[in-house]
Amino acid sequence: MLSRRSFSKTVLAAPAILRGQSGQLHARVKIDTERTIGDIDPKLYGNFIEHLGRCIEGGVFDEKSPLADANGYRRDVLDAAKKLDVTVLRWPGGNFSSNYHWLDGIGPRDRRPPRLEMAWGTVESNRFGTHEFLNYAEMVGAEPYICANLGTGTWDEVQQWVEYCNSAEDTAMTRLRKQNGRRDPWKVTYWGLGNEMDGPWQMGHRTADDYGKFALEAAKLMKLTDPNVKLIAAGSSNFGNGIDWTGWNRTVLEYLKNQADYLSIHMYVGNPQNDFGDFLASSMELSTRIKTVEGIIDTAMSNVRNRKIYIAWDEWNVWYRARGNEERGRRILEEHYNLEDALVVATFLNAFVNHAHIVKMANMAQLVNVIAPIFTNEKGLYLQTIYYPLQLFAMNARGKALELFVDSPKYKSRRFDDIPYLDISASFDKGTLVMNAVNRHPDQTLEVEFELEDKTFGGPVEAVEVNGPDIKSENTFDGSAVKPAMRSATAEGKKLRYSFAPHSYTQLVARLV
Ligand code: AHR
Repeated sequence: MLSRRSFSKTVLAAPAILRGQSGQLHARVKIDTERTIGDIDPKLYGNFIEHLGRCIEGGVFDEKSPLADANGYRRDVLDAAKKLDVTVLRWPGGNFSSNYHWLDGIGPRDRRPPRLEMAWGTVESNRFGTHEFLNYAEMVGAEPYICANLGTGTWDEVQQWVEYCNSAEDTAMTRLRKQNGRRDPWKVTYWGLGNEMDGPWQMGHRTADDYGKFALEAAKLMKLTDPNVKLIAAGSSNFGNGIDWTGWNRTVLEYLKNQADYLSIHMYVGNPQNDFGDFLASSMELSTRIKTVEGIIDTAMSNVRNRKIYIAWDEWNVWYRARGNEERGRRILEEHYNLEDALVVATFLNAFVNHAHIVKMANMAQLVNVIAPIFTNEKGLYLQTIYYPLQLFAMNARGKALELFVDSPKYKSRRFDDIPYLDISASFDKGTLVMNAVNRHPDQTLEVEFELEDKTFGGPVEAVEVNGPDIKSENTFDGSAVKPAMRSATAEGKKLRYSFAPHSYTQLVARLV
């Protein structure tokens, strides 16, 4: 596996190009490595696989494919997932989890019962279950995160799932686990208390009070089974469609503030109006929502000692073209991403890093085929545009998030005022500064002067740019129009000047002394 920070040197062979100095836009950034926001939790670089379309069957897992290993896992997909440095992997849904009965998915595969799958209107074979998932997470090198069924599921069912996965005692559940081939417990730490339980579309949807009471008893049983589990409560993400999302979050936290460790929030964005400037500013809304949720958490926790609840932004992505469910069955939610989508993804990751003190987990939805960075057919795969920012962040944006002084020219869009053309975050880890920057301007270069307050640049600065010929450029099975390329940058003393190309995402990596 590639080591972190050697990425641009070892993978990207493009020649170094010095960019021109003639841009019209100028910005300034001041960096003080002691001015920190918080520790960047590696779980910000999580992902998600759901029993939906071709994400699992036909993506992660394809028993009939010549590209699969003896256990049915697609080797090419596994390799691409490993190179993405996925830190935590959520499963089995999503909406799917709300009618998933885990006991259907264990034991000999040929004896598992096929069931009607109502979330996405198909039949679930149950051939990919708990063992298949937990083994997969292990192979990817990701922490598993199981989202339990708090829709149609029962307290017993969820308690026994934790026991099956985590207990070292000799019980009926652990005997069953051993009989199915796994002697040692997996020790799964992260468990979701249901998915989007605020939504009327969710199977087993409840009011906030009913969910709060039900989830509290489930949480107690789960923690009594294994006190080490960390629980993710289902928050409301349904901003502006008639659901009282802040009220839901307040009520649910009142019930769960002594049990939950995270509040789950989701956000998908799109560009249906074909308005680049407005779309690129979507992360401003994300940042506002993070602050609102943080306030609700702080209020709930104001009378609770020695406990913290963080945000798990455990579904996020660009998703708007393939929203319909008209292809009920197999090929659904298959977005084909372009350059502007990749830029939005980079700005979302910047927002998570810039709120690293409160956002401690984030899961791009989803890993393969379904609104995903990896796209397969029966012969192979290609990496979608959004793969690259996620990969570069996951590999290099670690350590402490830094609070930057940013003075950037701004613009206005349909939904937002004061949008900085320069969207940026920075991290500092063991003497290395990593900055991730998006130039939101569609056709102008952005010249930025970086100034270090407390340190000095200690050598050459590596720059990797993700860009393409056009904001609508896409990757396909025939080739990649959007991919990373090495650029060069020269720093002197405390200063670095860098020209960010129009519609680009760039990662700068510098040693500081
Ligand atoms: O990721 C696709 C779907 O979006 C998930 O199943 C659901 O949780 C969300 O609404």
